Amino acid sequence: MSFSILGTGMYVPPKVVTNDDISKLVDTNDEWIVQRVGVKQRHISTNETAADMGTKAALAALENSGVKKEEIDLILAASVSGESISPSVSCMIQNKLGLSCMTMDINAACSAFVFLLETAAGFFARKKVKKVLVIGTERLSRIVDWEDRGTCVIFGDGAGAVVLGEGDNYLDAVFHVQGGDNVIDIPQFIGKSPFFELEQKKPYIHMRGQDTFKFAVNAICKESKYLLKQNNLTFDDIKYVVPHQANQRIIDFASVMLKVPKEKFYVNIDRFGNTSSASIPIALDELNRQGKLEKGDLLLLPAFGGGLASAACIVRW
Ligand code: COA
Repeated sequence: MSFSILGTGMYVPPKVVTNDDISKLVDTNDEWIVQRVGVKQRHISTNETAADMGTKAALAALENSGVKKEEIDLILAASVSGESISPSVSCMIQNKLGLSCMTMDINAACSAFVFLLETAAGFFARKKVKKVLVIGTERLSRIVDWEDRGTCVIFGDGAGAVVLGEGDNYLDAVFHVQGGDNVIDIPQFIGKSPFFELEQKKPYIHMRGQDTFKFAVNAICKESKYLLKQNNLTFDDIKYVVPHQANQRIIDFASVMLKVPKEKFYVNIDRFGNTSSASIPIALDELNRQGKLEKGDLLLLPAFGGGLASAACIVRW
């Protein structure tokens, strides 16, 4: 046994920041950002934490699923931009929901949603849980260097969530980790120890754009093909590919290399930017609420990002 997705939810903060707004902060322009990244606007938090947004997405997913919050046995959450190292984001969401179930965070940056689903599948397989909340939530605006035009144009804030129940609709997943900090790095504040001698790197998102790009395209293509082959499936069997929304061009490249029509890839990066662990559950919620999914549809979810970590899974709706 694995699980079935019973409901989805999302939340983005109301403030919309356009490319023109960002061009007042750094030397950039709407045309460059749309062409190179595909983002037209992003939502940015002015007064909500990652846990606040995650809680709102969780409540939306609970309502959509018809599951009462008291039925939840486990909260799994991910965030690279939570306000505290401890309490974890999942602890804070549990607190805000007024629950007392077990909670756990997983750090796998932009791939985290698939890592969370795999972890949930383990709890279901051991029959430890009946209902699970899985949440990706990010206030990336907190850890973006707003003076670095190479990164600040890409990211946005928001949260996505799913409610899982017993079932067998999580078909398979593949994971790959190639650890290292030279391509993407989000260092913590180094502290003020009078004894530590290493230099402080600014505690913001550092990214080698072109290396990230190549890694991402390769990860989507390799892992998707591998996973489909392992399960005797082809792209024809997949209703939608719902990739991590990192960059429109990454998705376009993958579509060309895989010879899969663009229309099969769900894309919303133009409206939300890259919301890291929240991007796939936000996309799932949009598909769900737009009525684009029918029972039995197969979805392929490829994710990639800091770690470097990448993953892909197949879910039956
Ligand atoms: N506006 C205008 N110009 C910009 C810019 C911006 N926001 N950011 C960078 N540039 C400039 C650079 O300074 C450089 O100028 P130069 O040629 O005078 O030196 C030029 O644009 C090209 O820079 P480069 O870094 O080679 O651009 P690129 O085509 O690789 O695009 C990214 C940069 C970041 C958009 C692209 O590499 C990318 O999307 N990478 C993947 C990022 C990603 O998906 N991250 C999330 C992973 S989960």
